[in-house]
Amino acid sequence: MKLEMRVCTDGIPDELPVKLQLAADAAERAEALGESLFASVIITDDETIRKINSSERKIDKATDVLSFPTVNYRQGHTARDSAKRLRAEYDADAGACVLGDIVISSERAREQALEYGHSFEREMCYLLVHGLFHLMGYDHMQPAEKARMREMEEKALSDAGMTRDYSSDDERLLSAAREVVRNAYAPYSGYSVGAALMTSTGHIFTGCNIENASFGLTICAERCAAFAAIAAGEREFTRIAIVSSGDSPWPCGACRQVLNEFSSGLIVTVAGADGVVLTEKLTQLLPHGFGKASLMGDKD
Ligand code: THU
Repeated sequence: MKLEMRVCTDGIPDELPVKLQLAADAAERAEALGESLFASVIITDDETIRKINSSERKIDKATDVLSFPTVNYRQGHTARDSAKRLRAEYDADAGACVLGDIVISSERAREQALEYGHSFEREMCYLLVHGLFHLMGYDHMQPAEKARMREMEEKALSDAGMTRDYSSDDERLLSAAREVVRNAYAPYSGYSVGAALMTSTGHIFTGCNIENASFGLTICAERCAAFAAIAAGEREFTRIAIVSSGDSPWPCGACRQVLNEFSSGLIVTVAGADGVVLTEKLTQLLPHGFGKASLMGDKD
C-alpha cells in the first residue's frame, strides 16, 4: 500500500510511520487484491478534525478517524470484488489506484489508547486500518457488516504483529516487577521496590531501588526503570507496574515528574506486599503536571 502521510501534530513517535505502513500493508493483504493501492493519511488534532467533520459531513464534532473513499462500491461489495471500479481510480503519479483520504486525530487516539489500556501506536494503527477498510468498501452500520469489518481489522492487526492480549499487559508487568524486586538493594530502609515499565514499542524495562550509605544518593525503582528505557532509545512510556515489600508503592513525587516527561497517558499499577493491586492514571497522580508543554507556553 502506498501511503502519503502528513503529520500535522507534535509528539508523534519517530517509529510510528513505519508501524502505520506495516498495518496498511497488512490491511491490503487481508483484502487480497491484485491492484496496488494508494491512500492519503493526515494526522491532526481534535480541532482540525472537527472542522473537517463539520465542513464535509455537517457534523460539528471532533472524532477519532474520518475516511473519504474515492471508489463508489456497489451495495455489499468491497475492493476485492470491485477491480474495475478500482482501476478507474488509477493515478499515474501515484502508480496505484487511489482509495481516498483518511484523517486521524492523534489527540483522540491518545485518549482512546488510555481508555482501552493499550499503546498510542496500537490505537493509531487500529484507526488507520479502520479507515482503510472503509476506503475498501467496509462499513459497520449493520451487525453483520460490522462483524465482517471487525474480523478484517483483527486479521490485519495480527498480521502486522499488533495483537497482544492487552488485558494481560498488567500481569506481564507485575510479574516482571516481582522478578526484579528481588534485586532491590535496600539495606537501610528495608523497603524493596521493583518497577516494570512498558514503552510504546511494547518493550519492557525493569528497575529496582538502589540505596546508598550516603542516603540522598538512593535511586527509586521507577527512575531506575525509566532511565534504562531512555538509555535504550525509548521515548514514550505506556504502563508501569510497581511492587514493594511493604505498603502500596505509589511513586514518589520525583518519579511522577520523571515519568511525566515521557508519557502522555501512563497507567500506573501498584501492588504492595498484601497483594492488593491498584491502578491510576499518571495524570491523576500528577495533576497540572509541569512538562514540555509548559515550557512552550502551552499551559492549561
Ligand atoms: N522508593 C522507590 O523505589 N520508589 C518510590 O517511588 C518511593 C521510594 C524507595 C527508595 C528507598 O530505597 C526506599 O524506597 C525508601 O524510601
